[in-house]
Amino acid sequence: MDSRPIGMFDSGIGGLTVLHECLVAHPAEDFIYLGDTGRFPYGPRSLEELRAFSYQIARRLMESDIKLLVVACNSATAAALPWLQEHLEASIIGAVQPGAAAAVQSTRSRRIGVLATEATIASGSYEKALLNLDAGLQITLQACPGLAEVIQRGEAISEADVETVKGFVEPLRQAEVDTVILGSTHYPLASQLLQRLLGRGVTLVNSAREIAREVGEVLERKDIESDPGNEGGYSFLCTGDLESFVTAGARFLQMPFGDVSRMDLSELERIDVAWIQN
Ligand code: DGL
Repeated sequence: MDSRPIGMFDSGIGGLTVLHECLVAHPAEDFIYLGDTGRFPYGPRSLEELRAFSYQIARRLMESDIKLLVVACNSATAAALPWLQEHLEASIIGAVQPGAAAAVQSTRSRRIGVLATEATIASGSYEKALLNLDAGLQITLQACPGLAEVIQRGEAISEADVETVKGFVEPLRQAEVDTVILGSTHYPLASQLLQRLLGRGVTLVNSAREIAREVGEVLERKDIESDPGNEGGYSFLCTGDLESFVTAGARFLQMPFGDVSRMDLSELERIDVAWIQN
């Protein structure tokens, strides 16, 4: 038995899709969720910058004595996961591999589409993860600049947003994919729109569910599960505006946002990253 919490982070509220799946799948576990809203969005940033941000957050969460770190952000995973695993004494799970594995299991035509941020697409992570599992796949990758920002604002999606998203899904329709990976943890929050634009015949792979499954496997394999009689809880930290994080977050999580505090960015920036080489 291990009663320490599980740490989780994203640039904003997207990782709440992962938290939600984990709360359902692992009700006895405690979670600390950090939304780096002060530095949102991650998508347009360089891989080097995201590696530094991820390192600072991982170190900060490790100070809270977490037993497992979940990188609930595809952009941070794509930029930093193997590197973090190499440099930190912690068990770390990321977002790309679980979604890729689920997509390969789901596709019949072996034509898979990936929607993700610019950083995730630029990293080549999905392509690599998918081809490692099936070298014969036809993969259509599409960056969706601005989509996570629309979702993070939490406002109603406008006609202009729909037109933009139509442009993103068009190459996937042209390629006749039967499976689409929602390659940003923000995108399941727009799955109704995406499913309508892609059609009923296309399976949307929500990596949140797959990550929650992997969390369960790691807890069991490492024998670090909480007492099953424990009623798990969750708390939040955010580095940007507290009110907008709570408003948007509580709407999507559909659960109370009781234990939430703002953490000044200086608390992350005190962690030296100047030594990190490309
Ligand atoms: N949730 C992040 C991801 O999964 C993307 C949002 C952002 O651009 O910050 O990639």
